[in-house]
This record gives sequence, structure tokens and C-alpha cells, in this order.
Amino acid sequence: MRKDCPSCCDIVLFGALGDLSRRKLIPALYQLERMGLLADETRLLGAAREQLCDADIGAIVNSIIEEFVPAAARDTVSLEQFCKRFQYVAMDFSQTGDYQLLQQKLGDNNRQKIYYLATPPSLFSEICEGLSRVDLTDEPARVIIEKPIGHDLTSSQVINENVGRFFNETQIYRIDHYLGKETVLNLLALRFANSLFSNNWDHHAIDHIQITAAEQVGVEGRWGYYDDAGQLRDMVQNHLLQVLSLIAMEPPSRLDAESIRDEKLKVLKALRPITAGNSQQMTVRGQYDKGFAADKKVPGYLDEEGAKENSSTETFVALKAYIDNWRWSGVPFYLRTGKRMPQKRTEVVITFKKQPHNIFHETLPDLSPNKLVIRLQPDEGVEVEMINKIPGLGKRMQLKATTLDLSFDQTFKKKRIADAYERLLLEVMHGNQYLFVHRLEVEHAWQWIDGILAAWEVTDESPKLYPAGSWGPLAAVTLLAQDGREWDE
Ligand code: BG6
Repeated sequence: MRKDCPSCCDIVLFGALGDLSRRKLIPALYQLERMGLLADETRLLGAAREQLCDADIGAIVNSIIEEFVPAAARDTVSLEQFCKRFQYVAMDFSQTGDYQLLQQKLGDNNRQKIYYLATPPSLFSEICEGLSRVDLTDEPARVIIEKPIGHDLTSSQVINENVGRFFNETQIYRIDHYLGKETVLNLLALRFANSLFSNNWDHHAIDHIQITAAEQVGVEGRWGYYDDAGQLRDMVQNHLLQVLSLIAMEPPSRLDAESIRDEKLKVLKALRPITAGNSQQMTVRGQYDKGFAADKKVPGYLDEEGAKENSSTETFVALKAYIDNWRWSGVPFYLRTGKRMPQKRTEVVITFKKQPHNIFHETLPDLSPNKLVIRLQPDEGVEVEMINKIPGLGKRMQLKATTLDLSFDQTFKKKRIADAYERLLLEVMHGNQYLFVHRLEVEHAWQWIDGILAAWEVTDESPKLYPAGSWGPLAAVTLLAQDGREWDE
């Protein structure tokens, strides 16, 4: 056990056998075990419908780790210890009596309780109510919930109300897994630990900002869920707006939940509404058609398994956003995200303003602007693009655009970068909310997104098709070209 290991607690995973638990939560908890970050006495409790006993769950957890954790990131000793921590309670979440079983299992003690609701949001309310009936919701109990927190502002308010009836805001940890990514956190370090950037972080110095979250995958067997959401709800409402808030917020006075969340919220409130009047100049919706992914032929969105005919759900969206405040006046933030793009790539590109006058025009007529590129994934790192002189004795100075490339891999010699869920689970155990989303952030983000959805409904335009394996419809290029800019490829 490490010195900085959080104190012991009981973590209950509701929906312990579901996809999120299997792919993300159990593997993340296991990595914490390996790193000595689970206290000796910490207990893990799976809760799900299946009729299993404590002995079964150990074997299931073992097989989950073998399936989802690469061999190089697991070892027999820690795995055995991890499986031993698990207990199980079979529950029908709608049955009040079943919460008594859970209560008995947890026992009558003052141990810190953490509930992870890895279930559809439609069950949040009844689980919270069930826990409250057996007095399991009192402080310092903590509850973790995940997206989708609603389908729009109204439904998100209902979810937040329902959970809020049983837990105070300080007990609620709303996960946006992007906030647990190493490189997203590095945004805070870059901005607030380096005067080079913090002194040049506004409309005086910055021309525009691009945020791209491209994925090579399609809808991966979850057509039904996805079709109901679309890329705007699935990626922009949460992940992209969180990244945007961290880039655009004012310096918080402290590195704590209240200071950071207050500043992020101000950014969301200052987003200029997109309406039916301007949505055609500010947004592009696309849907992938058949094409290629990793050199293999893949079907279009409407030909995927389970697809309904004529769906007009977008699998790609590009937006131009403005933040109406002093710092960002006139600086466009271009957001772009889509499925079936040529590669997985999430990055932020900050393009600085060009030099006002070029004394090198004879050898370099066009001085390209400096760019700060933050590669969130894969190949995490930071690049600064700048102009340098090419060494040599020529009469005229020869210049070249060059890149200062700081790859995390090379610089920090880290074999493995922790998954977002490892950090987030650890922060919940420490009781630190700064990487979790406040209710008001969720609701203000929805308010802005609802405006875009309403505008799309009025303009009633179908999404533009793009071939799988391309960077989206041509209109996304035009979105920037009309401002004399282009996407950073
Ligand atoms: C999820 C979305 O929240 O984020 C998925 O529901 C998407 O559609 C995923 O694929 C992307 O996450 P990451 O960490 O791979 O960028």
C-alpha cells in the first residue's frame, strides 16, 4: 500500500456485469490495486440482477481482467488479491427488499461508502431511493453517475433532481471521462504554470482555436442508443464543451472544485447562442456513408446492423462557437467530432496571430503563425510550431517552419499512461470533486446544445453525407474557409 493511498472504503458497483463495469471500471480498479492505491481493508461489491454468490464473482472478475487488461499490465499476485476483495449481492433494483440485502452485506459500520451507478440513467432515481430507504445515503456516502445525463435540458434537470433528492451536491460525482485524461489535465499545467502561455492567452494573441475529436470506429453495435443521441449529444454536450471550458476559463484562484467549476461555468454561460438565424453559418452536420476504415470496406451509417431507414441522426458535427466575454472577444472556437474519420485523433490547436510585419519577405513571403498543438490522444504530447533559421552562410536568411515536439512517451519515459477512470475513481475515494462536473455545468451545456438542436429542427436540413474514412463533409472545410482558415491536418 502506498503512502498516498486513500483511506479504506466500500465501493458498490451497481450494474457490475454491464459493459461499462467490464470494460472500464473493474480494469481501472485493478490498476489501482497494482499500484498499491487500494487500502488493505477496501471492499468492492458487485450488485446486479444475475443470481451469483461471492465465490462466483471472484472468478468472473478474474476473467474480465484477463479479457480487458493486456498481459503486460497484470500479474498473478495482485490479481488474486483483487479478486478476493470482491463480494456480490444479487439485486432487482426496483425491489425495496433487495436494498436490505445490500445493507446487511455492507454491515453496520461507519466505513466510507461509494456507489457507482453503472446503469442506464432511468434507474438512477430508484437506486437512490432504495439506498435512502435503508439509510445508506447519509454523508459522507458518495454517488457516481455518468452520461447520458439527459437528452436535453429538461430531462437532465429531472435526473439531477432525482439524484439530488437523496444526495447533496457535495456527495454527487458526475463523471465526464475526458476530465480524467492525463493530457486534458495537462491543459491546466500548460496554461497556469507557464507564463509564456498564460500571458498570451486571449484575443490579443490568439487568432482561433480548434478542438478535434475524431474516431475511426463507427457506432460499434449500439445503433439504437446512438441514433437517439447523435454526435452533438454524445460528444459535444459533454467532452468537447468540458475541454473548451478548461481552455477558455479564467485562472481559478485555487486548484479546488469550487474555484475550477465556477470558472468553467462562466464560460458555458458566455457561449453565444446558435439559432435558426445563424446555424447554417455556424454548424455542419454529417452522416457517414460507405467507405473505408483501416483499409477495410465498411458500410454506411444507414446500413449498419440494426439501422432504421432514413435516420437523419448526425455522426459528424463541426461548429463555430464564440465566447462572449472580454478575453475571447472575436476569437472563434472551431469544434469538430465524428465517427468513421481516417484515424483516432483528439487534439487542441491554438493558432496565434501572425506577425504584423514580415522583414523576411524576400525568402519567406508568408510567415506562418505559431501554433500550440496539444495532442490528447493517441501519442499524447505537446507541439509548438515556430519559424527558425536554417543554419548556413547564405547571403539571405533562409527560414523554415519547424516543430518543437514534446511527446509524453519520450519525455517522461512512462511505460503506461493511466486510464481516465483510474484517476477519477481515485479522486472519488479522496473525496476531491475538482475533476467532476457540477449540476449547473451539465444544465448550461444542455441549454446551449438545445439551441442548436432547435435550430436544426427549424432549418430541417438532412445531414450531409461523407464517405467513411474521410474528414467529414466538404461543408466542414467551407466553415473555416469562409473565415480564411483551414483545419489543422
Ligand atoms: C463516449 C461516447 O462518451 O466517448 C462514445 O459515448 C465515444 O461514442 C467515446 O466513442 C470516446 O471516448 P475516447 O476516450 O475514446 O475519446
